[in-house]
Amino acid sequence: MYDRFNRKINYLRISVTDRCNLRCTYCMPAEGIELVRHKDILSFEEILEVVKTGVEYGINKVRITGGEPLVRKGIIELVSMIARVPGVEDLSMTTNGALLDLFAGELANAGLQRINISLDTMDPKRYREITRVGNLSSAISGIIAARLAGLSPIKINCVIKESPLEKDAQDVAQFCKQNDLEVRFIKEMDLENGRFSKVIGGDGGNCAICNRLRLTANGKIKPCLFSDLEFDIRELGVEEAFLKAVGQKPREGTKSKVNKFSNIGG
Ligand code: 5AD
Ligand code: SF4
Repeated sequence: MYDRFNRKINYLRISVTDRCNLRCTYCMPAEGIELVRHKDILSFEEILEVVKTGVEYGINKVRITGGEPLVRKGIIELVSMIARVPGVEDLSMTTNGALLDLFAGELANAGLQRINISLDTMDPKRYREITRVGNLSSAISGIIAARLAGLSPIKINCVIKESPLEKDAQDVAQFCKQNDLEVRFIKEMDLENGRFSKVIGGDGGNCAICNRLRLTANGKIKPCLFSDLEFDIRELGVEEAFLKAVGQKPREGTKSKVNKFSNIGG
C-alpha cells in the first residue's frame, strides 16, 4: 500500500515487550522506565491479527524488536506463528544478543531468517559502562550462536556519539570485518529534541524512502519514530488503525515526546 507521498509501505516493526535485560545509557535511565502494565501488553493473537491485516495491505517484511524481544515469554512460539503467516517473506529480529546463545538455534528453527545484534564497543569495561549491567562476552557468544544457527545476514548495530571514526566504533568495525559481519552505525538520537540522522550503512532515518510502520507492545500503530501520531488497535480495530497510520504517515519526522527507544526498539 502506498502512502500520501507515494512511499510503498511494506515493513512492519513489532515491539513485543518494553522490558529489557540491559539498561543502555542512551536508551534508559539507570532506574529503568515505567513499564506497560501486563494486561496492556498485546497477546500473541492480537499481534498475529495485526500481521495478517498488514499482509493484506502489502506488508511482506516483519522485524521483531523490544525492549529486548528475547525476554518476552514464549518468544519462540510467537516467531513461529508469524513465520507461518503466508505473505511474510522476510522475518528478522533486533536484539541485544545477551540471551542469543540460548535462543539462536530455536529462533532459526522457528523460521527467523536474519538478525541484527547491538554492539557498541569491543572493550568489556566500556560494554559494562554503556549497558550498565551487560557482559561483552554474552553478546559475543550470542553472535557466534547466531552464526552457527545459520541466521543470515547477521548485522551489527553500533551506536556512535558523533562519528564512525571514534575508537569504540573503529574496534567494532574491525571485528565485523574480521568476522564477515555487516555493521551499521547509528548516531545517538534524541527523540524528544528531534535529533536524528540517517543510519550509516542502513535505510533508517531516511524519510524519503521510509517504508515502515511500528506496532508498540501495548497496541499502538505508529507511522513514524519521530512523530507522536499513533493509532490504537484496541480502540479503533486493527484494520482502521493500520489504514489511518498509513494514511497519516508524515512526509518526514520532526520530534516525539511520547516515543522511547525502549518501547519501539529503534
Ligand atoms: N539513539 C540511537 N539508537 C538507539 N538505540 C537505542 N537507543 C538509541 C538512541 N538513543 C538502538 C540500539 C539498538 C536499537 C534497538 O536501537 O542500539 O541497536
Ligand atoms: Fe535494552 Fe536495547 Fe535499550 Fe539497550 S538499547 S536498554 S539493549 S532496549
